[in-house]
Amino acid sequence: MRIAVLGAGNVGGALAKGWAKAGHQITLGVRDRSNPDLQALINSHSGISATGVGMAAKSAEVIVVALPAKAVIDVFNSLGDLSDKIIIDATNSLFSKPGSYNHASDAIRKINNCSRIVKCFNTTGYENMENPVYQGEPIDMFMAGDDREAKDVCSKLSADLGFGKCHDFGGFDRIPLLEQLAMAWINLAVMQKKGRNIAFKLLER
Ligand SMILES: NC(=O)c1ccc[n+]([C@@H]2O[C@H](COP(=O)([O-])OP(=O)(O)OC[C@H]3O[C@@H](n4cnc5c(N)ncnc54)[C@H](OP(=O)(O)O)[C@@H]3O)[C@@H](O)[C@H]2O)c1
Repeated sequence: MRIAVLGAGNVGGALAKGWAKAGHQITLGVRDRSNPDLQALINSHSGISATGVGMAAKSAEVIVVALPAKAVIDVFNSLGDLSDKIIIDATNSLFSKPGSYNHASDAIRKINNCSRIVKCFNTTGYENMENPVYQGEPIDMFMAGDDREAKDVCSKLSADLGFGKCHDFGGFDRIPLLEQLAMAWINLAVMQKKGRNIAFKLLER
């Protein structure tokens, strides 16, 4: 797939590398193309390139948001109507809300007239996105959103990174719950000092 990853930091970099390895065509949407870390990321895998945010979003089938939540308002105000795009929102607005919006997906839905938004890849650390396998067992991913087709695409992209099941938390109204799940991971990893090599997996019988 042609995937635009907006933001080339910890999360954007991890997702870009994983999907490039799986054969996807990744365009990073960035504001500074001279950044040496960005050049290293582009050179690390064939299938990764970088351009401005607008160009990256325009040519993509799927847009992945790996920006600070508060940057989403300015960035998405510059992108216009995105009603034909699938958008995967990997941000967390736990510590900094995007203005008066509840979370980044809420902002994008209203600013860009987009209903095909999936919240995903926000509930675990970027290290787990780079390597989602523990003792041979893939860890799980979690998503929420209203559009079935967008969730199917997201679930496939999660599997392409090496995650186990991508559990469906439900509709768009469940997005705050996914941000709280991210907070649970942060609490264990950082506040309770378990470190970032921890992950969630749902057991079923
Ligand atoms: N870190 C994690 O483990 C983790 C896990 C799950 C979810 N998240 C969420 O994922 C998002 C990204 O986190 P991160 O750790 O990857 O952050 P990061 O390493 O700081 O990367 C943020 C990226 O966003 C870019 N950016 C910031 N403002 C921008 C703007 N106005 N226009 C264009 N690009 C802009 C930065 O570009 P510059 O280099 O030009 O500043 C950078 O490439 C956050 O919402 C975070 O809460 C993080």
